[in-house]
Amino acid sequence: MKLPKFLTKKPKKKHTPLKTQEVKFSYGKQAVLQDISLEIKEASITAIIGKSGCGKSTFLKLISGIISKSHKGKIKIFGKNKTWNKNKLGFVPQELSMIPDLSIKDNINLAGLNLGISERTAMTKAKELLELLKLNEDLDKKPDELSGGQKVRLNIILSLLHNPQFLILDEPFVGLDFQNRKLLWHFLESMKKKGKAIVLTSHLLSETEEHVDRIIILKNGKVFFTGKPEKLKEKLKIKYIFEVKFAYLSKENLQQIKDNCYIKRIPILDHYDKYIMFALESENTRDQLTRLFKKLNLSYEELSLREPNLDEIFLKE
Ligand SMILES: Nc1ncnc2c1ncn2[C@@H]1O[C@H](COP(=O)(O)OP(=O)(O)O)[C@@H](O)[C@H]1O
Ligand SMILES: [Mg+2]
Repeated sequence: MKLPKFLTKKPKKKHTPLKTQEVKFSYGKQAVLQDISLEIKEASITAIIGKSGCGKSTFLKLISGIISKSHKGKIKIFGKNKTWNKNKLGFVPQELSMIPDLSIKDNINLAGLNLGISERTAMTKAKELLELLKLNEDLDKKPDELSGGQKVRLNIILSLLHNPQFLILDEPFVGLDFQNRKLLWHFLESMKKKGKAIVLTSHLLSETEEHVDRIIILKNGKVFFTGKPEKLKEKLKIKYIFEVKFAYLSKENLQQIKDNCYIKRIPILDHYDKYIMFALESENTRDQLTRLFKKLNLSYEELSLREPNLDEIFLKE
């Protein structure tokens, strides 16, 4: 039986918002990205983290098409070359992108023009976003008349006027106080609920850990880790953080502790004066340490034995 055409139409193949394969990129002779292969799924929030200068911004600019210099490897946005799907992508740069001499209203119009949407659509969308991000200011004001946190929020709004399916935000939390960071997280979470794919970078690791589905760690130009934050703790074998404050700690004692930890592979994450922070693989490791303190005749106070947060995990790197 020959079915009518509309019944034979296969569902549209859904493409992954981002898929990169073996992406390499250099600034002149400086190789920044060596091999970045990753995928970003729709309806998800992913944080790209890594030390300052490791190439996070470069990677985001590369996938957004802001860097026009050539790279090696493949970058597909919704299954296509990024130049063909630019309208599906919204890039919020870390640097403020508005023009100081123009009013907020004119900045909105200009951003709309750059994104290829009409003045009316830009303004309608902007008003929705201004309300969501609680920016109830006179649109005739100039950006310089806004507070730092308001400027950051306006910067975000200007990049999202075309309702992109894939949001890329470079350090969007810098300059925002706790309340506004919460507001932005809620905003991103509601965008995720609408199916949007979100990728961001942030230095506030413990806060980020609470809100994202996945983290991707870049190290030496490669993907060092990808997965849920808990998995990273497993991979790095840090089950607990153990903090101790000694009543007295001589240089010799400190060296003995360090030597012992080196041999037994117990990482010391932090040390200041009479305080030491250890990373423990298990509770047995704590017993090993307390036996050592006893042997050295050290009196001490246990400050904590608890699960590590992402900031502390990064101390090990
Ligand atoms: N436009 C540029 N020209 C040359 N080198 C650059 C440029 N932008 C960044 N770099 C260098 O590339 C490396 C990665 O930078 P970046 O991507 O900004 O790192 P991150 O965002 O992780 O802090 C750094 O060593 C930086 O100095
Ligand atoms: Mg950066």
